[in-house]
Amino acid sequence: MTETPDDQPDPRAQIRALKNHLESLARAGLDALPVDHAIDLAPRPRTHPPVARETQAEPVAQHASALVPPTTPVPQAERPIHSPQPQAPLGGSLLGSVGFELPVIPLDERGQALASLAAVVSTCRKCPHLADARTQTVFGVGSHSARLMFVGEAPGADEDRLGEPFVGRAGKLLTDMITKGMGLRREDVYIANILKCRPPDNRNPEPDEAANCVPYLERQIEVIRPEFLCLLGLVAVRYLLGGAQSMGRMRSRWHDYRGVRTMATYHPSYLLRNPSMKREAWVDLQMLMGAMGIEPPRRGSA
Ligand code: URA
Repeated sequence: MTETPDDQPDPRAQIRALKNHLESLARAGLDALPVDHAIDLAPRPRTHPPVARETQAEPVAQHASALVPPTTPVPQAERPIHSPQPQAPLGGSLLGSVGFELPVIPLDERGQALASLAAVVSTCRKCPHLADARTQTVFGVGSHSARLMFVGEAPGADEDRLGEPFVGRAGKLLTDMITKGMGLRREDVYIANILKCRPPDNRNPEPDEAANCVPYLERQIEVIRPEFLCLLGLVAVRYLLGGAQSMGRMRSRWHDYRGVRTMATYHPSYLLRNPSMKREAWVDLQMLMGAMGIEPPRRGSA
């Protein structure tokens, strides 16, 4: 931020920062701020000091039984386009502002930013038919400094009842993919959906519903600023990346979502219906892990 000679913040820079902040909130659908919403315009260094490694996943007893054994080779052609990064601390989401208008939000402010957004989402009635039918909105769950964010489709009956994404059968498989497959803990990543409300009969989100709801997800991504996005299924692909290609064409390669390295793979519900496709999903996860610089948990480790 520009400084005036007497080391006072430049009021023009403050106004610019405030305008950017309010525009970002407005894009996420906020048309009012809670009275306690503080906007800190204090000058910040361009980068934030490294966030301490939040948690290193405990080794798990059983290996990737959710998918296929970790010894499955990743075909050369499926290897990441980007070379793997050196092992980086989990939870260090320190990207610059590539693709985002706001600077990285310091970790200690993300909880408040997400809580304010969740409060708005919880009373959202942009899709009155969904709002009337829901038990509650399902905002998202996980680490505010997650390096990796999973994006699914929409809450189902279990999620609508419990208020947390991916807690039903598909959620159990996703949790196994994260823990047994990747060796992370569910709470190390962030999990959200394209829609925050359950569509009737678990049908696919309609385009107008997605148009209403995706700005909330965009704001979550902007606040958490993950290094990697994993899009679960074609609904997430369609509404975050656009286009209508098959999963066969979209998976196992890198896409760009506002500067975030983005991978698509099969939705866990699809994998439950088509268990033979777990092999492909495992290839995708291994590619993601290679880029993140994380090793699969050792077979049989406790
Ligand atoms: N399927 C999804 O896409 N999201 C959930 O939260 C649960 C099931």
